[in-house]
Amino acid sequence: MKKIGIMTTGGDCSGLNSVIYHIMCGANKRGWKVYGIFDGTDGLVSDKPNMIQLTKDVLPQEYSFVAGSFLRNGNNGQNNCFEKAVQSGKITQFTKQLKKSLAQTKLDALILIGGNGSISLAWKTRDIYSDMQLICIPKTIDMDIPLTEKTIGFDTAVSQLTRFCDDLMLTARSHHRWFVVQSMGRKCGMLALTAGVAAGASAILIPEIKFDVDKLIEHIKNADTDYGIIMVSEGVSLRGHSGEPATMISRKLTAAGIANRTAFPEHIQRAGNTVPTDRILATQMATVALDAITNNETYVMTALQHDEITTVGLDKVVSAGKPERDPNIDGLMISNAMVDDDNPLLIAADNMGIYIGETK
Ligand code: F6P
Repeated sequence: MKKIGIMTTGGDCSGLNSVIYHIMCGANKRGWKVYGIFDGTDGLVSDKPNMIQLTKDVLPQEYSFVAGSFLRNGNNGQNNCFEKAVQSGKITQFTKQLKKSLAQTKLDALILIGGNGSISLAWKTRDIYSDMQLICIPKTIDMDIPLTEKTIGFDTAVSQLTRFCDDLMLTARSHHRWFVVQSMGRKCGMLALTAGVAAGASAILIPEIKFDVDKLIEHIKNADTDYGIIMVSEGVSLRGHSGEPATMISRKLTAAGIANRTAFPEHIQRAGNTVPTDRILATQMATVALDAITNNETYVMTALQHDEITTVGLDKVVSAGKPERDPNIDGLMISNAMVDDDNPLLIAADNMGIYIGETK
């Protein structure tokens, strides 16, 4: 009988509980014992690993439909977190402690549900997991993990952000004004682009695509309506300006005589009941993660590729790289961009008459 662990690390998103629940069910069906580690790697730095055996009594099915992580993700502000250890140069000490704690758990395998930061850190410090199998499941609202076409939490975030914009649209109309909505997403514009199209935004600015403020203003002035949504991804930059990109764009619009307000949906994008497509992705990724354990795989991540869930090596995920910004242009030019000029949704947005920047 195998003994496996689950841990959620990095920022939370809706869908984590779905993954945890389905891993628990699938593992129990295989006759394995499942343990949830609380607070991500923080839960492993204490003398005794902070973990609990998961059964349906502890984690009922209803939990699998809601946001947050039953296991919590750790406290970024605390001194004992992985990120702080990296910053303060105490990484060796920290990894030693993690390895020691993990040895106490006597786990055969660990499933780490994390974003690109956690996954690359896990690969860099892979020795910690050398005595067990390590399987990662990609989660993030940012959709910035290479080699997978979907991450857990993205669809729910799109739904949350779209609803936020839908709610604003009527008040925008009532006051003949524009709302500059700033989405999350770090350096990846996929969330802004997808929700922007779904919400019928008039303009969508994302880090990957260069834009021209004058063209944006012209576009808004020539629009059919005098109200609507201008979606700005948080990774967007404007040369010579610092501060929130939505605020910078809003000031430019105001200076051009366009009535507008900013709106920041913030962590609402990580909240909300998990949408069905995220629940289904969670079920599929949990199954593939458990199969990977059966097949003795290690240092792999589950991934959606061409409509199939498979596993890819963590080395490949990490070497695929991260988006990089070019500070010399408005917007960001990105290497390894998640949204490139040929992105079908970007092309569709352009065809719909949405201002998406200067792609040509
Ligand atoms: O990576 C997920 C994310 O929600 C980003 O989109 C956002 O920039 C960041 O995390 C917010 O982090 P925090 O929860 O620390 O404010």
